[in-house]
Amino acid sequence: MFITNKIGPRANGFRGHTASDITISELFGRDNILFSSGRDAIYYALKLILEKKGSIRILLPSYLCSSIFESILPLKKVSIYFYKLNKNLQIDTTDLLKKIKRHQIDVLYIIHYFGFIDLQFKEILKFCKIHQIIVIEDCAVSLFTKLDGEYLGSFGDFGIFSLGKYFSLPDGGALKINSGFTKSTKIKVGRLNRSSFFRGLIKQFLLYLIEKFNFPYAFYGNNQLYFKLKFLIQKIKSLSARKSNNLFSYQPFYISKFSKYILSKADIGQLIKIRRANFEVFLSIFKNFSNISFLYDYLPEQTCPFLFPFLVKNRDEIRGKFLDLRIEPAILWRSDKLWEKFIDKEEFSNSYWVSKQILCLPIHQNIRERELNYIIKVVTEILK
Ligand SMILES: Cc1ncc(COP(=O)(O)O)c(C=O)c1O
Repeated sequence: MFITNKIGPRANGFRGHTASDITISELFGRDNILFSSGRDAIYYALKLILEKKGSIRILLPSYLCSSIFESILPLKKVSIYFYKLNKNLQIDTTDLLKKIKRHQIDVLYIIHYFGFIDLQFKEILKFCKIHQIIVIEDCAVSLFTKLDGEYLGSFGDFGIFSLGKYFSLPDGGALKINSGFTKSTKIKVGRLNRSSFFRGLIKQFLLYLIEKFNFPYAFYGNNQLYFKLKFLIQKIKSLSARKSNNLFSYQPFYISKFSKYILSKADIGQLIKIRRANFEVFLSIFKNFSNISFLYDYLPEQTCPFLFPFLVKNRDEIRGKFLDLRIEPAILWRSDKLWEKFIDKEEFSNSYWVSKQILCLPIHQNIRERELNYIIKVVTEILK
């Protein structure tokens, strides 16, 4: 058995009919755009704001996925600042308010971590409304969580989603536009991001091999097939004349028809149910383990968790042990060169602290009883 946090084709609950009671347009509202990725959605939202305001002073959380920089850095007239979080990834509101004032912030970027909602979220929203600060809610890792009966991503001015993190898709992201803005024809969006689509297809095919034939070498081991194929595609891409995404230019694309079709068939009710049940099982068993601590020690009712995160001291060594036993826990997020360039190690020491200790077990809809029991056995062996 090889268990990964990546979502393979078995996840979609694809049964040839719409099993879900939630449709995608209900989920993202009428004014939504389905993109090839979450980064495309971020880029588009910022372009819309720039059209209106001319320049942006954006305040980002100091704990983030570096891929966000890809869609922000190519934009001119965007100044970026960061706010602190505490060791539970809750927003440090004192620091937030100080930074908003000091840097005359006009866009606040909030990441909902792991499907959970910051305790101060409503207060922060209220403050932003009063002071006319635009709020972008990043729900890339918080799809399907509700607050007061409404999906996350409906509260700020924009909601950002990354669909491939929840469904088995070759590509997919979404932007929900809530207020004050409308789609713009001036922003050029490409038809299909071919190289990312084909890379996505290959990834899905390899995941299928893992699920069907227990073929771990696709993603794991010295001979990772996935990275070899990805490298090959990137080589082909760089040979072609088309512009590639980098930190100086960015080109957003719409979602593929293929992914859109799969999305319309996905069993969302089942997805939420399994994720919640898996999280609850892990929590109830690992709660008493003294070597680890938790970012979230209870699961609120309307929460759809993304992963099961915990903090552990010698994280990289522990992760190695998991990999030896064919479980691939995720690290969300590892600090990298971009972090070090933009996020001060001393000022944002809590973010680096979490980043060094965090490890996340998969709880997605492919993790059924057999996988669940295996993970529990391995965790008990390694951590108890
Ligand atoms: C919090 C967050 N926002 C945005 C993104 C970008 O999403 P995508 O990978 O679909 O471009 C990611 C991706 O990892 C993310 O974790």
